[in-house]
Amino acid sequence: MYDFRIEAADKATLYRDLASALQGLVGGERDGVANMANAAALIWESLPDLNWCGFYRNVGEELVVGPFQGRPACIRIKFGEGVCGAAAATLETQRVEDVHSFDGHIACDAASESEIVVPIVRDGKLLAVLDLDSPKKARFDADDEAGCERLAQILSSAI
Ligand code: SME
Repeated sequence: MYDFRIEAADKATLYRDLASALQGLVGGERDGVANMANAAALIWESLPDLNWCGFYRNVGEELVVGPFQGRPACIRIKFGEGVCGAAAATLETQRVEDVHSFDGHIACDAASESEIVVPIVRDGKLLAVLDLDSPKKARFDADDEAGCERLAQILSSAI
């Protein structure tokens, strides 16, 4: 049984503990779907104020939904479309404080108010994006961005 309980006083510690739990969880397994599924569950359990947490995979230069926690989501997203597509097209993290003011935002869940999407890249190639949504405006700050980029780096050799 895995019982990760990550409760830290500050975000830097929270993400450090989360990164080390993720490394432990995916480090010994080479099946990418298994690792994405466990990563989505771990992040969902560890970070407060999320209403969706999971992956869109690069399948032939189109994003296709992968393992996630939350409500059923749109299945396919073209590069350049929405927040996920912007991350895929630029290979840069997209941190959106208010999804309603993001041109082209794709609303999978009407409860979403803010979002962060981090590309997962190996050898310069996009493997997937990690997408976190929150029902709170401006839920994600620069510490979340740094922390999620560290998680994406760990996943880049595990999916
Ligand atoms: N809001 C995303 C779509 C995916 S869902 O949030 C799960 C976007 O605009 O790309």
